[in-house]
Amino acid sequence: MTPWTSDRPLRSPFGLPLGLRGRLAGLFMWWTNPQGDLFELLNVRPGERVLEIGYGPGRLIGLLAASPAGRVCGVDPSPQMRAFAARRNRGQVAAGRVDLRVGTAESTGFPDAEFHCVVSVNNVGLWPRLEAGIAEMYRVTRPGGRVLIAWHGGTGRSPIARRLAMPEERLGRVERALGAAFSDVTRREIPHLTLFEAVR
Ligand SMILES: C[S@@+](CC[C@H](N)C(=O)[O-])C[C@H]1O[C@@H](n2cnc3c(N)ncnc32)[C@H](O)[C@@H]1O
Repeated sequence: MTPWTSDRPLRSPFGLPLGLRGRLAGLFMWWTNPQGDLFELLNVRPGERVLEIGYGPGRLIGLLAASPAGRVCGVDPSPQMRAFAARRNRGQVAAGRVDLRVGTAESTGFPDAEFHCVVSVNNVGLWPRLEAGIAEMYRVTRPGGRVLIAWHGGTGRSPIARRLAMPEERLGRVERALGAAFSDVTRREIPHLTLFEAVR
């Protein structure tokens, strides 16, 4: 799988966490990406259905599961991350309130207009086809629903965010791809992330 941001296939266990290296990367991400800031910005209302694309170890899924959301779903191409995130959220998975699947941004497998809110954190730069992923986000979001895409960057750039932040040309491409499908597209910097928001 070659990301749209690169000309080489994805090899990093953080980009596609497979096998033992992937599980270790998942553990690292669990401890270093608490996702509290982003969760607050999602402003989830009671009963809403939320989809997270590329949930990794499932830290944001755990916060969503403890929120008033009606249903919390996720797709990630890594079976290791599916197992990891499902273990961390086992009660809610067993209760059927959290539904974690193996899938990708380009092909989530969920029905049209299913979600009030769709969010992707630190994986948009890994998708093989940016525009196909955004088209899929559009398909599964309800009219009036919101999407958030966040990528390494932000105001208080950590060494990791500095290394992985996208150049302006790529940020512009994300913004244009969102603008071609959604309305009210905005971009801003929050402490560790560049954040795009839009409304279907
Ligand atoms: C850097 S991790 C971020 C995980 C999590 N969102 C977080 O912030 O802790 C990137 C995740 O994106 C997933 N990923 C890679 N390619 C993807 C794609 N095409 N669609 C959706 N997720 C993808 C990986 O499997 C991995 O779990």
